[in-house]
Amino acid sequence: MGKKLRVGVIGVGGIGRIHISSYQKTGEVEVVAVSDASLNKVKQVEKEFGIPRGYKDPEEMLEKENLDAVSICTPNFLHASQSILSLDKGCHVLLEKPMATNTREAREIVKKAKESGKVLMMGMTWRFMSSYSYLKRLAQQGEFGDIYYAQGKWLRRRGVPGMGGWFTTKKMSGGGPLVDIGVHALDCLLWIMDFPRPERVSGFAFQRFGFRAGDGGWPPPVTRDEQDIKTRVFDVEDLAGGIIHFSGGKVAILEASWALNLESANGISLAGDRGGATAPPVKIYRERNGVQETIIPEIPEGETYVEEVKEFLRCIKEGKEPSANAEKGYEVLRILEAIYTSSREKREVQL
Ligand SMILES: NC(=O)c1ccc[n+]([C@@H]2O[C@H](COP(=O)([O-])OP(=O)(O)OC[C@H]3O[C@@H](n4cnc5c(N)ncnc54)[C@H](O)[C@@H]3O)[C@@H](O)[C@H]2O)c1
Repeated sequence: MGKKLRVGVIGVGGIGRIHISSYQKTGEVEVVAVSDASLNKVKQVEKEFGIPRGYKDPEEMLEKENLDAVSICTPNFLHASQSILSLDKGCHVLLEKPMATNTREAREIVKKAKESGKVLMMGMTWRFMSSYSYLKRLAQQGEFGDIYYAQGKWLRRRGVPGMGGWFTTKKMSGGGPLVDIGVHALDCLLWIMDFPRPERVSGFAFQRFGFRAGDGGWPPPVTRDEQDIKTRVFDVEDLAGGIIHFSGGKVAILEASWALNLESANGISLAGDRGGATAPPVKIYRERNGVQETIIPEIPEGETYVEEVKEFLRCIKEGKEPSANAEKGYEVLRILEAIYTSSREKREVQL
């Protein structure tokens, strides 16, 4: 067995800690350092996960630690500068979603990832959920035929993350539930459909709750501290979505909310000319011998984040391009941005 890769994690709030524990569970790498703007969190995480060294400044960590790879788990407005810096320092990057707060920044990341020759993988977590990876396999085997209609949603009845902090501040997050959780549903649909070329988008966005929705409980309270960004701003939507038209006439409908007076729901529906599916839980709709069948496969639960980091490590070791690469991160963000533009300008947006 070769030497273990040296990994660092930038941002150890809610999700950064899950990256650390997932890396540790693989047994394939050593998380040698972390950095976070809050030294409090750095100290806590060092202790909890047995991390040798911690830094306040990610640049100092990158200078001193000779890392092979980093996870970037900071607020969205830091994704572009920190991933470009990390690639410049010769690190492979696992970048949390959404890629950036806008496509201009995302393009810079795509450019740098290409020039660097390093792996840049987006943290598109739904791809590693066992229900969706199963559907992807079925789609590849032709089970659904040509998927021409799809729906994806993540609706929370209540569930605003980081109320009054970076999540709810447009210039720091890039948007509300659409870019925060709708991003997973859209990426997952596009991935299973093999990224059809988007042509035009019609979108909508509402803000009917704002602070009235209350705190949604994410990031987990134990991971918060007094140094967290506090803006007391809520200038993003709490419901958004759109209809996306692709080449060949295919259509996808997307919905995402942090606050909505409806039952919480998340998942995807796929309809092809040979079969269809909904998930989770996975149900397959098909026809055999002139009879319609509904199949409910028993799919074992997996460890989603462990699968995600394992794929990142496989790409590094085998010199393989991740399927959720920088271009795909950009493509997803381009559609989400078009939904906002369409909603704001009350028109269909051509892509
Ligand atoms: N893939 C998923 O399932 C998933 C889930 C949750 C969050 N996320 C994404 O992960 C990222 C982080 O989200 P979170 O929920 O952990 O937020 P969080 O606020 O809990 O964590 C962000 C951390 O970054 C730190 N930070 C702020 N500025 C910094 C800087 N300049 N340098 C270093 N650290 C800095 C903060 O102190 C905080 O600890 C976001 O992009 C979010 O969209 C992904």
